[in-house]
Amino acid sequence: MGVIYDEKKKTFTLHTKNTTYQMKTDQYGYLLHLYYGRKTKGCMDYLLTYADRGFSGNPYEAGNDRTYSLDALPQEFPSQGTGDYRSIAFAVENIDGSCACDLRYESYEIVEGKYALPGLPAVYAGDEEAKTLKIYLKDSVTEVGVCLLYGVLPELDIITRSVVVTNNGHGKIYLEKVQSANLDFVTGNYDLITFYGRHAMERNFQRMPVEHGVQMIESRRGISSHQYNPMMILTKRGTCEDYGGCYAMSFVYSGSFKGQAEKDQYNQTRMMIGLNDDGFSYPLKPGETFYAPEVILTYSASGLGELSGNLHSCIRTHVCRGKYKDAVRPVLLNSWEASYFDFNGEAIYELAKHAAECGIELLVMDDGWFGKRNDDSSGLGDWDVNEEKLGETLKNLISRINGLGLKFGIWFEPEAVSEDSELFRKHPDWALTIPGRNPVHGRNQLVLDFSRKEVVDGVFSQMCRLLDEENIEYVKWDMNRALSDVYSAVTKEQGRVLYDYVLGLYDFLERLITRYPNLLIEGCSGGGGRFDAGMLYYTPQIWCSDNTDAIDRLRIQYGTSFGYPVSAVGSHVSAVPNHQTGRETPMNTRKVAAMSGTFGYELDLGKLTAQEKQEVRKQVEEYHKYAPLIQNGRYYRLSNPFVDETGAWAFVAQDQSELLLNVVMLETHGNMTQTYVRLKGLKKDAFYREERSGCIYPADALMEVGCPMPLELGAYQAHQYYFVKVSDEI
Ligand code: GLA
Repeated sequence: MGVIYDEKKKTFTLHTKNTTYQMKTDQYGYLLHLYYGRKTKGCMDYLLTYADRGFSGNPYEAGNDRTYSLDALPQEFPSQGTGDYRSIAFAVENIDGSCACDLRYESYEIVEGKYALPGLPAVYAGDEEAKTLKIYLKDSVTEVGVCLLYGVLPELDIITRSVVVTNNGHGKIYLEKVQSANLDFVTGNYDLITFYGRHAMERNFQRMPVEHGVQMIESRRGISSHQYNPMMILTKRGTCEDYGGCYAMSFVYSGSFKGQAEKDQYNQTRMMIGLNDDGFSYPLKPGETFYAPEVILTYSASGLGELSGNLHSCIRTHVCRGKYKDAVRPVLLNSWEASYFDFNGEAIYELAKHAAECGIELLVMDDGWFGKRNDDSSGLGDWDVNEEKLGETLKNLISRINGLGLKFGIWFEPEAVSEDSELFRKHPDWALTIPGRNPVHGRNQLVLDFSRKEVVDGVFSQMCRLLDEENIEYVKWDMNRALSDVYSAVTKEQGRVLYDYVLGLYDFLERLITRYPNLLIEGCSGGGGRFDAGMLYYTPQIWCSDNTDAIDRLRIQYGTSFGYPVSAVGSHVSAVPNHQTGRETPMNTRKVAAMSGTFGYELDLGKLTAQEKQEVRKQVEEYHKYAPLIQNGRYYRLSNPFVDETGAWAFVAQDQSELLLNVVMLETHGNMTQTYVRLKGLKKDAFYREERSGCIYPADALMEVGCPMPLELGAYQAHQYYFVKVSDEI
């Protein structure tokens, strides 16, 4: 397993447990892609075919051989100006203004362990868990050097890719496009699955056949965005949850990106993802190096369920870090939907008292505790406690809350600034604005220029003042607008700002987690506007959406589940009628939906009846019982809540000893037909006892026909069944 170089055939082969990836260098020194898919031995260069292709370019050295064209051959890293007219992965503007870059093979290196990327999040692994292949390419005219990085994690069926560009020439060049991973398929009909959305309705599932032309998803917003998630899947036609071949690309980056699938004139398909080249023009002086963010690749020959499982394990165990990586997260109560900006210390303490009575472990004081902040028009940037509003010091409030046995958490939006703030009055140039123009507002605020170190330092030291002094055990890191007016006051080269901004953000987060290793940080961007593998390197959970409606959440969490583990999904029970949709759902249903994530509450518990509070107490106890299974078990989608009459999913222990089934009925009719939910992931031939009824079921029947759901009256009823393996054999 791992990485093999065949000197005679000039092939590089990457093997994981179930997959193989192969490429070769050819007679002209081009690096051609041969194969990615189900595990196989041997050499796949027989897949390359050559024919005279009219209007496709031929490299000069091919002479009169018109059958060799990079416009038709599958490549690892297609570059501009080589006769390949499809979408390319790499474009440079050279000192002479030309835009060609003809990358040819130079050398390779195979090293133990997984490469890291300075300043960027990346999959990490022990030396015994991974191998790295580095392939060096070079343009001989400009001396631009490119190193393609491949990380191979055999046990996880994961291959990562990244690109390092070095300017070995004599003048400054501009990188105009650097995609991090490209996959060329010489044949096949595919569907592209992407996850689109909007604020409060993120990651809707979309599946489209890849036809001639380019299908593209992107963010130009400087954050990965609510609109398109930087994760996409290419499936063979007919692939479904349980069978069929499919490929995922998950971009480990939190800013603007572009992902696309293109079917070319010869019915070949190209898939790639990387930084958005729109607004990107990165200067590289002689001797300087540029690191492109990483892409996680995985292939499953057994459908989308396994594909997601691969991504879940990788992100949970090799991207997320820190004390809370594997730990069950504290059940929290967040003040936002309880009181929005309208609170004082006593009100927060009251919330905490109710929370303590219900067994909740962490009280989070959301937006509104700092500067002058009674609505969203002012105060951002002034991270000093508003003691006048609280009516007490923060120390006092925290100590009272700790006295109830609860941890204390707090909200920050470090990247933002209000024009009505002390920070902006003092440092107006710290905000991204274009001289002479009025900036574009988003939620009445501006964005701080995190591409500048002094800005990052300034906010960091403000934040540390509080975190050093107070017993704060959780931070919600929010970011409530997209970037605009991308103009930095210090650099002359604005094409670097969007990327440098994200590096500044990562630098801040890295410093924060290093200085406060016990702090739990939850990412957030108006809910799930920056839900990506990059952020999960720093924050092991992310508030999934500002939409807390249980039924909408089924769909949002369903979409999210394709690329991200449940341990990363912030999910809370909120009040009814729901504040975003006005919909009423039973308390039990809200609990079941919220248990598909890091569980918590977001409502005024003081407004509940004694009986409802008792129910909350019971829910928290139940969560504690199931939490290790939810956090570390395998997640199975059992329905598609966009089209089926249920939202259904299950958590199965890695050793198959237990299963928690979750079902929400989305339809109710007169004389209702019977719904059966088919389980997955149980041990074949074994028997399982359902805890509440005590009934024993054969695993195979549960997986073949399913489990009948009760015919209960009422909209959106939910059911949770816990199965324990009682015997291995019939
Ligand atoms: C964003 C978050 C919310 C809340 C508010 C506070 O919208 O997603 O959860 O924190 O900001 O302003």
